[in-house]
Amino acid sequence: MNNILNRKLLKIGIIVLLVLTITILHFATSIHRPSLHQIYQRSYYIPIVLAGFWFEILGGLATALGLAVLFIVHIWRDWAHHPDYAFQQYAEIPTYFVIALLVGYLSRLQRKSRENLEKAGAELATAYKKLNDTFDQLRHADRLASLGQLSAGIAHEIRNPLASIQGAVEILGQDVPAEDPKKEFASIAKKEVARLEKLTSEILQFSKPATPQKLRTDPHEIIEAACRLVTDQAHKQGTEILRRFNEQTNNIQVDPEQIKQVLINILINAIQAQSKGGSILVTERTENGEWIGAIQDAGPGISPEQLDRIFDPFFTTKREGTGLGLSISYQLVKNNEGRIWATSKPGQGACFFTSFPVSVSESK
Ligand SMILES: Nc1ncnc2c1ncn2[C@@H]1O[C@H](COP(=O)(O)OP(=O)(O)OP(=O)(O)O)[C@@H](O)[C@H]1O
Ligand SMILES: [Mg+2]
Repeated sequence: MNNILNRKLLKIGIIVLLVLTITILHFATSIHRPSLHQIYQRSYYIPIVLAGFWFEILGGLATALGLAVLFIVHIWRDWAHHPDYAFQQYAEIPTYFVIALLVGYLSRLQRKSRENLEKAGAELATAYKKLNDTFDQLRHADRLASLGQLSAGIAHEIRNPLASIQGAVEILGQDVPAEDPKKEFASIAKKEVARLEKLTSEILQFSKPATPQKLRTDPHEIIEAACRLVTDQAHKQGTEILRRFNEQTNNIQVDPEQIKQVLINILINAIQAQSKGGSILVTERTENGEWIGAIQDAGPGISPEQLDRIFDPFFTTKREGTGLGLSISYQLVKNNEGRIWATSKPGQGACFFTSFPVSVSESK
């Protein structure tokens, strides 16, 4: 801002300096040297052209007017006794105004076309970004669709034999006395079958998510319900979940059970990321008709390369993770017409955002 002002002042300074120099030369040069006066008279075109170029029509006309006044004083003072020559000089004055108008107008045209070009450039950049985003989404959707089909097929095939194995393991385990070393194998088999059962139902949920049953919902209630369910797990490692809500609530139109699950997935990740102690902060804000909830943890954060992949199915960095928590969440949020994204600075924790349009007529 200051820079622009300084440049403007410099330009005004140059014009004033030129006008004063030429005028002083006019006044100081003897009238017996008319050829020099002719040169000065034409030199006035320079500040007029500059003013028209830099300050468009108004600047050009103001300079022409100032010059005309000074020039008239000079003609009147020095050339009054030479009416023919004086007339010739007076006749020059309208030319100053014509030039001011012409250069000012051309300069305005040039500025307008530059502005139009800049606007078109900015619009093009936005369109390009949108196109890239859409392309990314398409790629993600495509990957999800094919992975979903494949995993759903496998999960479906595994599910029935798994149920039989689960039943068989239960029955076999019952007959083994508690002191028998085989009891330990029975309990391992039971635990592993339960893990497989969780995995298959997660895969099925991922590939065939239920249609959302949307209700007008207070997001605070969803957050509270999700926090209640993970509080025990958080307390076990000394982590506190803090909520900072706005006084005024905006309702959203979502399936509360599905969004609760999304928040649970994010909260569990946040708890897992924070190995001991610390706190997780849940905040909210409303912006451009959107309710935005944020969950910030104080864990190690996520590197930029991993940040690109966390919503991909089966992407996990955990030994026991399936890598489906966030991809299921992504789908659930999308099916509820919302958005989910994360930001992170490695070493400074991660922040997960979910946003949904505010239910307009229903805000209280
Ligand atoms: N709050 C977080 N801080 C750091 N990394 C995170 C966080 N949340 C997610 N991640 C990264 O994203 C990966 C994917 O998360 P996602 O919830 O989909 O799967 P997961 O937690 O590994 O397994 P699960 O399917 O059991 O949830 C995680 O393995 C982890 O690397
Ligand atoms: Mg997870």
